[in-house]
Amino acid sequence: MSRKNLNIGLFGFGCVGFGLYEVLQKTPGLKANISRICVKDKNKPREIDKQHFTYDKNEILNDATINVVVELIDDADAAFEIVAAALKKGKAVVSANKKMVAEHFEELLQLQKQYNVPLLYEAAACASMPIIRNLEEYYDNDLLESIEGIVNGSTNYILTKTIQENLIYETALKQAQDKGFAESNPLLDVGGFDAKYKLLILLAHAFGHIAKPDEIINIGIDNIGELELKYAREKGLKIKLVAQAYKNPDGKITAFVLPKFVGPENRLYHVDDVFNGVITKTAFADTHFFVGRGAGAHPTASAVLSDISALSYDYKYEYKKIERGEGSGLTHDVYLKVLLRHRHEDNIVLKDHFVTIEESYTNNHSAYVTGVISLTNLKQIGELFGGTSFILIETVAAQHYQPELVD
Ligand SMILES: NC(=O)c1ccc[n+]([C@@H]2O[C@H](COP(=O)([O-])OP(=O)(O)OC[C@H]3O[C@@H](n4cnc5c(N)ncnc54)[C@H](OP(=O)(O)O)[C@@H]3O)[C@@H](O)[C@H]2O)c1
Repeated sequence: MSRKNLNIGLFGFGCVGFGLYEVLQKTPGLKANISRICVKDKNKPREIDKQHFTYDKNEILNDATINVVVELIDDADAAFEIVAAALKKGKAVVSANKKMVAEHFEELLQLQKQYNVPLLYEAAACASMPIIRNLEEYYDNDLLESIEGIVNGSTNYILTKTIQENLIYETALKQAQDKGFAESNPLLDVGGFDAKYKLLILLAHAFGHIAKPDEIINIGIDNIGELELKYAREKGLKIKLVAQAYKNPDGKITAFVLPKFVGPENRLYHVDDVFNGVITKTAFADTHFFVGRGAGAHPTASAVLSDISALSYDYKYEYKKIERGEGSGLTHDVYLKVLLRHRHEDNIVLKDHFVTIEESYTNNHSAYVTGVISLTNLKQIGELFGGTSFILIETVAAQHYQPELVD
């Protein structure tokens, strides 16, 4: 198959945009040329000659010779405007913006159909690790049971540095920012929002279910305190921010982002620093494990490059599972074993929310319980009580707590 010539209009020349520029210079085999670059700040010094830049998006969007728009900016609202306008003008689009894709999934799907142009976004989930195309193409059947993984490079970097190397949180966050791993707004990373946006994208390609961000609970790493770190160290565990989605026996899907204790027997235990790791489980193949760099200029640019290359032979996502109507809805009616750190005064009320308590502990400074709680109650506690922190220990089979489900 002969490859198309691609004339690219690039939006954004920051960490990933410049990374892509460098990577493309080293990939002469690909017939792709950056024709124009749109950025925001006229006064910023640039790594290449100013003549390549524009500050007006329409200079790219209205240029009929540009057939591909690559969107690598850090503003999800502006990104949606650019991507929607490009698709409407019949230009293929590559984006790395998970917030934009997750928040507008349905509209973007509709635009791709209506204007018959592809939008690819492999770099939006797990950066360099090719997970979207694998979920879309390889797991093109109904046998995928679960996906579980570390999908945010900067929080994994922060957790590695604070738990294993005893760095203070602020220093680790600053390092992640300096290395270009972190989002411009750090709350997106440490609050678990970035991981949730990625999970939403993975959900659509894994199970054919399009969910809205506020349907899925996300607890980040910003509330993790000394007590949880001590608990982890004493038991030889690590804490990882894990995004998880699995099919229940009734076909409904449960999805959430929570910090989780993992032991050395779990493959995610060994995924440190900026790396991401995802475990898929299928009915017949058992498990697969993907690992790769989850952030950084060149690793992220490599996924963007792969999408650009795929456009040169007219690849597009077919959204097969969505088209077949496989998505059968979400449920929060599941049970999790967790550690909950809380204020002393909330002790009794909080315990009522658990179905079983295994351990409970209070001293002058701290209080915690470990036990089993429904995801619905966990969400409620997070919303109603201040000063709490949850760490997932494991998911628990629902039939232990729902007698009606027992045969
Ligand atoms: N960094 C990573 O490791 C990584 C990994 C995976 C995905 N991503 C995603 O990749 C995207 C870019 O991230 P980044 O780290 O490269 O961000 P960045 O370093 O902050 O760069 C952002 C770029 O976007 C430009 N920009 C912002 N608003 C604009 C607008 N309205 N019009 C035109 N240009 C605009 C900025 O222009 P100025 O230069 O003029 O300020 C800058 O060049 C984000 O969606 C991010 O989530 C990043």
